[in-house]
Amino acid sequence: MPHTAPPKIVISGSGIWTPPEMITNEELVESYNAYARKFNDDHAAQIAAGTIEEKYPSSERFIEKASGIKARYVYTRDGILDTERMRPSFPERREDELGYQAEIGISAAREALEAAGKTGADVDAVIVAAAYTQRPYPAIAIEIQEALGIDGFAFDMLGACSAATFGLHRAYDSLRSGSAKCVLAVNPELVTPQVNFCDRDSHFIFGDVATAVIMERLDTCTAPACHEILSTKALTRFSSNIRCNFGHMIYAHDVEPFGWDKLFHQSGRKVFEEVSPVAARHIREHLESLGLTPDDVKRFWLHQANINMNNMVIKEVLGREAENDLAPIVLDRYGNAASAGSIIAFHLYRDGLEKGDVGMICSFGAGYSVGSLVVQRR
Ligand code: COA
Repeated sequence: MPHTAPPKIVISGSGIWTPPEMITNEELVESYNAYARKFNDDHAAQIAAGTIEEKYPSSERFIEKASGIKARYVYTRDGILDTERMRPSFPERREDELGYQAEIGISAAREALEAAGKTGADVDAVIVAAAYTQRPYPAIAIEIQEALGIDGFAFDMLGACSAATFGLHRAYDSLRSGSAKCVLAVNPELVTPQVNFCDRDSHFIFGDVATAVIMERLDTCTAPACHEILSTKALTRFSSNIRCNFGHMIYAHDVEPFGWDKLFHQSGRKVFEEVSPVAARHIREHLESLGLTPDDVKRFWLHQANINMNNMVIKEVLGREAENDLAPIVLDRYGNAASAGSIIAFHLYRDGLEKGDVGMICSFGAGYSVGSLVVQRR
């Protein structure tokens, strides 16, 4: 049988849903500190006896310096700043109503479809990849598939901070193998329901967003500009330094279902120190495998968890600091949007490259996990 070369695969469109509401550091710190004062007053006797730990105040200065985050978008501000509640309020939707993640995913998907010049009828696979899904089944991806009039198949996958890049890897593999001809990959990162807003170490980190990407073969692409995928690379190493113990087993565990360990928690300093060098090495090795050097890359669309982490990774990769045009930062206004961070950066800063220019999308974080795609502007 004659050998046929695998098809060239491109990203032909991307889209974003940015929540209409935002919370600044100032607002978040003010509510946390009011909550902490009340907590300390209410538990004064136990704190004095040493059976409960005093809560120390949070600080805007610390948050901006330690993370680079100034504000974050949230699906709803309701409840988050209420010192009696300290968590967002999402009224439960009926089973015949569109779910929250499907709703925000569809908004991002519509923009991605339009950018690619496609409709639901052109797509034959939907992948929802996110750090959390609001239910195990039916898949959020199938809900989105149905709403957009897409034939073919759809599934959800988790992958924490690297869900989005790992989802794009699966899209690429499906297109290369021929099991799909046009894939919609969606990242409905509704993260604020999982944030422990009573925890000073992590109350400032996350924001909500949804991103979407259309991936297809170059020979079906009609978009005015696209990015060819030259290569994908993934790496995982088990670590509990970023962890969430919420899951279906809780019903059988006879424990507090909303205890601190059932929400996002981490040893942030360890994560910082352990993940940054692994990500930097991964980036260098991925480029080397293609005969490229870091200086050949015109833009790095990096994961957006922490400005100091991004600076450290870039410095290790390039041997110097990078200007915003080379490695754009969006976390100052989006916060850490879980796996969607590198896709937000790609979507907002995908223009401006010349034909033939090389770029890299790269995520890193919980798992641990690192996922990258080397792309070339066509
Ligand atoms: N306000 C004021 N002080 C705070 C604070 C807050 N909100 N949160 C923590 N602190 C204090 C700590 O208690 C600590 O005090 P100590 O020195 O007296 O013990 C001090 O600030 C430094 O804490 P540390 O945790 O070492 O800060 P850091 O510089 O590592 O920054 C993170 C914390 C979380 C911003 C940072 O470690 C990080 O982002 N790491 C990467 C995590 C990541 O990417 N995770 C992926 C998530 S998906």
